[in-house]
Amino acid sequence: MAEARPRCGEVVGWGMSVPERVLSNDDLAAMVDTSDQWIRSRTGISTRRVAGAGETTATLATQAARNALEVADADPRDVDLILVATSTPDHPMPSTACLVQNALGAIHAGAVDLNAGCSGFVYGLVMGHQAIASGEHDLVLVIGADTMSRVVDWGDRSTCVLFGDGAGAVLLRPSHGDGGVLGTILGADGAGAELLRIPAGGSALPASGETVAKRQHFLGMDGRQVYRFATRVLPESIRQVAAKSGLALDEIDWVIPHQANMRIIETAAKRCKMPTERFYLNLERFGNTSAASVPIALCEALEQGCIQDGDNVLLVGFGAGLTWAAAALRWAPEAEEHRGAWLHRWLRNLLYSWARARTRLRHLYNTTFVRLIRWTQRSE
Ligand code: COA
Repeated sequence: MAEARPRCGEVVGWGMSVPERVLSNDDLAAMVDTSDQWIRSRTGISTRRVAGAGETTATLATQAARNALEVADADPRDVDLILVATSTPDHPMPSTACLVQNALGAIHAGAVDLNAGCSGFVYGLVMGHQAIASGEHDLVLVIGADTMSRVVDWGDRSTCVLFGDGAGAVLLRPSHGDGGVLGTILGADGAGAELLRIPAGGSALPASGETVAKRQHFLGMDGRQVYRFATRVLPESIRQVAAKSGLALDEIDWVIPHQANMRIIETAAKRCKMPTERFYLNLERFGNTSAASVPIALCEALEQGCIQDGDNVLLVGFGAGLTWAAAALRWAPEAEEHRGAWLHRWLRNLLYSWARARTRLRHLYNTTFVRLIRWTQRSE
């Protein structure tokens, strides 16, 4: 008798959200001493999206999550767990995941942020899959979201040309067929912590006039060392996760890599002896969106019809920490009939409006209550 397949997570919904504002290389050349030619040839990036007023990591994450729920035709009240991977949360406290949970009306979900730099989404996917494999959870939202434009130094040409803003999300459910997560790896090397970091604003160097004057709240990077790390760890991760999943490299149909730099991806492809055409790329339009880059690329690859039923898809991230993570998936979604999808959509929108109204009411209640207390104290 064939052995039953262990319980595993499968992607059943996906979505993305990017700000409207496009910043081109020429726009950047008007701000710092750089050129379209330099940026394209060293990175492969032409444009990136930059958040405007009112747009934050949480608002982008919420929209991406709503799109993922829409694809799966799922009710936010059925979500058990929300994981938001980000290194640019809306606030140090509370977590961005709680803001997203509230905005979705996901009233039965636990919610938590995780920070693994640009590897964060793949870390979240691995942990979401494990939450499902344990039997503890059934519906997990994994979101990668970052607004790097809020932490890059727009006067530092060596970093500001690389990054962009955005969010991507997937909804995981237990797989009932052949699809789902085949194998995963996670890795970290804290000895490289200083290569990519924001020095101030934490417990080591709390915010002060001096830290602001020294521009220590901006991202600092040793580009060459990070490049060396990335070109080593990316091909190693691909090989390791493929082997752990029982796949030969030529059985991998698509690699969805972290979109940091075209040259890093080309080097990894060469070292794995895989054609670059099997690496999905969209960094030319979005730049490095940190934790959002892998789910945005996955989302676009699916929407463009690149990924077909039965494909083996490998997601791989690397970044600050230093960290790296990879997951191999078999893409074999079961055909589901979404009866009454329009009614579910209407209900979801009602839930979102109610969540917004509830937040405003609570805010109004709190501020009125505080004012009332102050007023009674003054008149005593
Ligand atoms: N425009 C024009 N010149 C620039 C520039 C820019 N935006 N940024 C740096 N330069 C200059 C440097 O000042 C240096 O000038 P110098 O030789 O007169 O000192 C020259 O270009 C070469 O700099 P170098 O850092 O050696 O360039 P590079 O070929 O290593 O490319 C990166 C720089 C940042 C593109 C590359 O190191 C890289 O991609 N690193 C990985 C970064 C990354 O992906 N980080 C995120 C990981 S999650």
